[in-house]
Amino acid sequence: MNARLAPLCGVTDYVLRELCFEQGCEQACTEMISAMGYLCAPNQRAVQELMIRGPKETRLAVQLFGRDPDTVAEAAKRMEALGRFDSIDLNMGCPAHKIAPSGEGCGLMRVPEIAEAMMRKTVQAVRLPVTVKMRLGWDHEHLNATDLAKRAQDAGISEITVHGRTREQQYSGEADWEEIARVAECVEIPVFGNGDIWDGETALRRKRESGVAGVVIGRGAMGNPWIFREIGQLSRGECPTPVTAEERFHMIEEHYRRLLAWKPEAIAVREMRKHIGWYLKGLRGAAQIRAEVNRAERPEEVRETLARFREALREEA
Ligand SMILES: Cc1cc2nc3c(=O)[nH]c(=O)nc-3n(C[C@H](O)[C@H](O)[C@H](O)COP(=O)(O)O)c2cc1C
Repeated sequence: MNARLAPLCGVTDYVLRELCFEQGCEQACTEMISAMGYLCAPNQRAVQELMIRGPKETRLAVQLFGRDPDTVAEAAKRMEALGRFDSIDLNMGCPAHKIAPSGEGCGLMRVPEIAEAMMRKTVQAVRLPVTVKMRLGWDHEHLNATDLAKRAQDAGISEITVHGRTREQQYSGEADWEEIARVAECVEIPVFGNGDIWDGETALRRKRESGVAGVVIGRGAMGNPWIFREIGQLSRGECPTPVTAEERFHMIEEHYRRLLAWKPEAIAVREMRKHIGWYLKGLRGAAQIRAEVNRAERPEEVRETLARFREALREEA
């Protein structure tokens, strides 16, 4: 079953993406990159970091956002020239206040003619496959994902990912997989479903019931890259291997080691806090350990705190 990792800005850097690939993720996407920002300052460190492709990333799309079709098409052309990415993804789903109201991200769903022009121009500008990630619409009075999907198909877009919420919903409520199924039905190109997949069973059920080509998982992979292993095992008819506490600690160590090898210590310590919180979620006593980890300034302090917690859990077991 085709299970992909969704872009989550501030979360799915190349280190986390590689950990997901190691567990069976089939494709990932960079965090969203401003087309204008890239064209104006292609060598800016923050942009370059977003564009890293790890050696274990077997299929990686680069995601662009912007409001002007020519700017986005030009940025796509330059991204293609780097020879680093397998496809170009256009962001038509971001709901953020700094993005959508100004006509970028999900704001493009309010101006389908511009969205269509962006898709056409980008497809014409590059040889790589161009894909689109969208929501169901701006709000429930304007559910136009099927219209945009048809426009995408006509424009030569290769695949579509649909997050089953509107912009107005942001991340509240539940993803509407019936609407996703409607989009999948109205076009011939592959449609991938996205929203609220927290475990392997749900992934398989959503795919089966909605008729999508595959699923795209975002928050469900935070602290749980094993979700891809679980999906793989269930797809092959195998019993999923439970994730043990020991495995979680190993994963934290490995994640930490890779992040420290890449980023300055203070940044790695800060960034790792949220990941540790997610990895430990559900373990008894995790809240207190999380608070301690959040106060620690050095990796050694964090390791010590985790070692204590690990020992306590072992004794309990
Ligand atoms: C913290 C965060 C950052 C996100 N960043 C991006 C992004 O850069 N590009 C994008 O297309 N979607 C982004 N999304 C949306 C996710 O890719 C996904 O569509 C959404 O979280 C629903 O899927 P899920 O329920 O599996 O998390 C982001 C979501 C979150 C929570």
